[in-house]
This record gives sequence, structure tokens and C-alpha cells, in this order.
Amino acid sequence: MGAQIISGRDIADEIRAELKDRVAHLKEGSGVTPGLATVLVGENPASQMYVGMKNKAAADMGINSRQITLSVDTSEDELLGVVSGLNADPGIHGILVQLPLPDHIDEGKVLEAIHPSKDVDGFHPINVGRLATDSGDFFAPCTPAGVIEMLTRSGHDPSGKHVVVVGRSNIVGRPLAALLLRKAIGGNATVTVCHSLTVDLGSVTRSAEILIVAMGRPEMITAEMVAPGAIVIDVGTNRVDDPSRDKGYRVCGDVLFDEVAEVAEAISPVPGGVGPMTITMLLANTVKAASLRTTSG
Ligand code: GUN
Repeated sequence: MGAQIISGRDIADEIRAELKDRVAHLKEGSGVTPGLATVLVGENPASQMYVGMKNKAAADMGINSRQITLSVDTSEDELLGVVSGLNADPGIHGILVQLPLPDHIDEGKVLEAIHPSKDVDGFHPINVGRLATDSGDFFAPCTPAGVIEMLTRSGHDPSGKHVVVVGRSNIVGRPLAALLLRKAIGGNATVTVCHSLTVDLGSVTRSAEILIVAMGRPEMITAEMVAPGAIVIDVGTNRVDDPSRDKGYRVCGDVLFDEVAEVAEAISPVPGGVGPMTITMLLANTVKAASLRTTSG
């Protein structure tokens, strides 16, 4: 029998409907319209596409969205000036600087310049530290937060489970491990993090009750690496050549879907899995930023 499909598309729709209500209530109750600014430096086609999708999704929800597009030769100081202007702008509650930035700009410096209360990406060291110590108010990075929502809303609460995360990036693997460890709904898991130097990856992934894969290697996780009955979330989005398709490529995850779906209890597809959740959680963080600003005056 095939596995339950955990549809990020359906869960994203559910959350967006809830957020739309919250945006309407904010507007009615306090006259505040959440505002999101996206900053794009250069002409990376993938970044252009992602930023376009983020702005459209925000606008569809009633969030004010402002896109600032800067040329590839923008200096670090100019970019820091733009961020500083957005920090001071009362109509902007969330700031997202699309990564990667051109090589001549220090990414860390720019991320640290964003005010933590407007850091809807959750990349500022203050937000990273609060997540790591599970203390105070913080913004969680969008992709990991989306994975947690997918698990809890599909009936697979990680509490008490052995969760194996494959990948230790700052955007996905590390913050995901921190979210899974929290003493909170969606947390309380026993967490193992694997990476490129993990010895005998298959023996570790086979020990997972919940397996989350974010390694960026197309279809690396095969059925023999997954325990029967495991829950599998695939964070990978890879393009692989496929001459049989009109476009000449197809999009796949890090998990060999057809094979793993035969042994797993539940699995998220690619596309239509984690992808739609990332933008949704960005919108959720923006609404949260506007609400916090409203309640704190
Ligand atoms: N580039 C790839 N993923 C992300 C993300 O989640 N946020 C930002 N700002 N840039 C990215």
C-alpha cells in the first residue's frame, strides 16, 4: 500500500486562510496593515522568481508588499543604508534581503543590520540565539517552521519521537534541529543531525521514526535507507536533466519518491511539499511582526 501524502500545498492553503482572517482583524481592530519589504540585489533568475512569488503571495493576503531592486554593483554601504531606512519605516514590519548576495557584500553584516523585530527570515543572530536557547520572542526561519507545521497538521507530532535531520545548513538543518528540541508544540523530539561526513548514513536514517532530508542531492535517499512506517519530509528541490520533458528538466527532491513511498507511512512530495510552506511561513512571520508591533505600541 502507498504512503499517506503530506501535501504542503493543502496545508499552506489552510494556513493562508487563517492568516487572511488575522490580517483582516488587524486592519479592523487597530488600523494596521502588515508591511513586508523584499530587497533583491542583482539579477539572479531564481532569486527574481522567489522574490516575485513572495510579493504576490503577500499582496494576495492583504499584506502591503514593497520590492526594492538594486543593481548587482550596489555597494555594501548602500545596501546597509537601504536596510537602515526600512528599519526606521513604521509601515514596514518585515524585511527580507534575498540571498545569495553578490560576493563583494558581507552577507552576515547585512543580516545583522536588519532589526531583530523585523527579521522575518529569522536569520539575525538574536533570533538564532533565542531559538537555540528556546527563550523569549523570536522569528523562526521559514522553511524549518514550515516543516514543523506540516508534521503537526498532518497528525505526526514529533514529541517523543526519534527525528533524523539530514543536512546542517543555517537555513534548514540547524534551525530545524533547534525547533524539534524546543519544549513546545512541534518540539520535544529526540534529534539526530547527519551531514556530509556522517559515516554509514543509511544506518542512521533507518533509525528514524521521522526522517527530514535537506541535503540538496537529487534522489539520494532510497527505500533501503528508510525504516518501514517512517514519516518522511523531503526539503530538497533539485533540477535534473530530463530530455523527455518539454523544458529539458524535471524537479525532484532529495528522496527517491516512488520507492520510498512504498515503505514509508507518510511522505511529502516534490513539488507540492515543503516549497509552498516556506512562503506561507514568511507571511505568518510578517503578520506576527505587525501584531507584536501593535501590541507593544
Ligand atoms: N535564499 C534561499 N532561501 C532563502 C530564504 O529563506 N530567505 C532569503 N532571504 N533568501 C533565501
